[in-house]
Amino acid sequence: MASPTPDTRLERMDDLVSLCARRGFIFASSEIYGGINGFWDYGPLGVELKNNLKARWWQRVVRERDDVEGLDSSIICHPRTWEASGHVEHFSDPMVDCRACKKRFRADQLGDAGKCSAREGSSEHDFTEPRNFNLMLQTRIGASEEAASVAYLRAETCQSIFTDFKRVREVARQKLPFGIAQIGKAFRNEINPRNFTFRSREFEQAEMEFFCHPSGREQWFAHWLDERMRFHKELGVDEANLRTRPHEQDELAHYANQAVDVEYRFPFGWQEIEGIHDRGDWDLSRHGEYSGKDLAVTDPDSKERVLPLVIETSVGVDRTCLALLCDAYCVEELEGGDSRTVLRLDPALAPLKAAVLPLSKKLADPARRLYRELQRHWNVFYDDAGNIGRRYRRQDEAGTPFCLTYDFESEDDGQVTARERDAMTQIRLPIEGVVVWLRERLEARA
Ligand code: GAP
Repeated sequence: MASPTPDTRLERMDDLVSLCARRGFIFASSEIYGGINGFWDYGPLGVELKNNLKARWWQRVVRERDDVEGLDSSIICHPRTWEASGHVEHFSDPMVDCRACKKRFRADQLGDAGKCSAREGSSEHDFTEPRNFNLMLQTRIGASEEAASVAYLRAETCQSIFTDFKRVREVARQKLPFGIAQIGKAFRNEINPRNFTFRSREFEQAEMEFFCHPSGREQWFAHWLDERMRFHKELGVDEANLRTRPHEQDELAHYANQAVDVEYRFPFGWQEIEGIHDRGDWDLSRHGEYSGKDLAVTDPDSKERVLPLVIETSVGVDRTCLALLCDAYCVEELEGGDSRTVLRLDPALAPLKAAVLPLSKKLADPARRLYRELQRHWNVFYDDAGNIGRRYRRQDEAGTPFCLTYDFESEDDGQVTARERDAMTQIRLPIEGVVVWLRERLEARA
């Protein structure tokens, strides 16, 4: 049993980074070539965690609502999109170069310059004047090298929601107010990717744009802020590590009239995981202007033609996964001086729901039968190698909420031992009741 010493919350990101690599949650992309800065791969456990999170978001934001429609748009869209959106002109960070070490830093984050080798032996930096550096990643389409073929990898997923707004509204027969949501990859040529996946160059966003009559602006902003905070709390994150922070006027993005960040307390400080933005009619009016199409709609109440205002919720999938992992990570001191690392993930989000562990390889056949049965319902694991204590520890580290041990008595009494990850309590359970027993526990908070 766990000793009375309190669990240790994650203090050093290195401990999580190493667990994630060791257990295959997340590791550097192109590892065999030394990695590539700002790009990460999700391994077998990571992809399950991420998919569970995305499915939860889709369920809450799209499926459980009558007023939000789904979309999956292309990553590359017409380059005019990014002129209209203001990204070509405004989406940049001020950066400086160190003349001595040739490294580049964000001018607003010069704390990073501690990594500058020119600092050694001297506290003086020889920086260039700040210059604006556009964060959009470019590519070329077709065989032509001419400027006309330049395109951008989307810097936010929502722009296609605005350009597809009219069609989606018509096909879904929606009236104001309503929203369009999508999950997908976004790309930013971040100057200093850092803090593991927190600031990456390729990442996933789950965005929802809610179109409303200008008179509904305050009400819908408040509604979505509430909804989104409820969502984060429901993920099982410690509420003491969550807060909202309104943006100051001078930090608002070029499209935003009002913004509130949802922040999580990472080991490296309070940082944004989601933004709720009042984008006004910026996007629809600009796309209307650049495309020459009328994007106004008839308001069902007043019958007047209006250009809807947009309330946006934009959450980083990778940042939320990182918050879940940081929050779940703990090291517990056990009796006898032993310790264990455990990921206390919400069972509904955990990559593996259960592990079937026969006490001996001789019990493989019946244990595998149980495993096959569970596999029809969930992502489960089978492990018959090595000492049972070590097998439990491996599952603790993977965040698997339940282990089912098939032992020699199981043959006679038709029961297995179910061991719960957090309290490490064990009970005997009839094999035929395992599916129902697990379902009750996995769906408790889903
Ligand atoms: N459409 C609005 C928008 O893109 P944002 O605040 O720039 O707003 C929204 O980004 C969310 O996307 C952030 O809260 C964050 O979770 C995630 N995000 C942004 N840049 C990121 C990066 N470089 N790496 C990982 N996630 C990022």
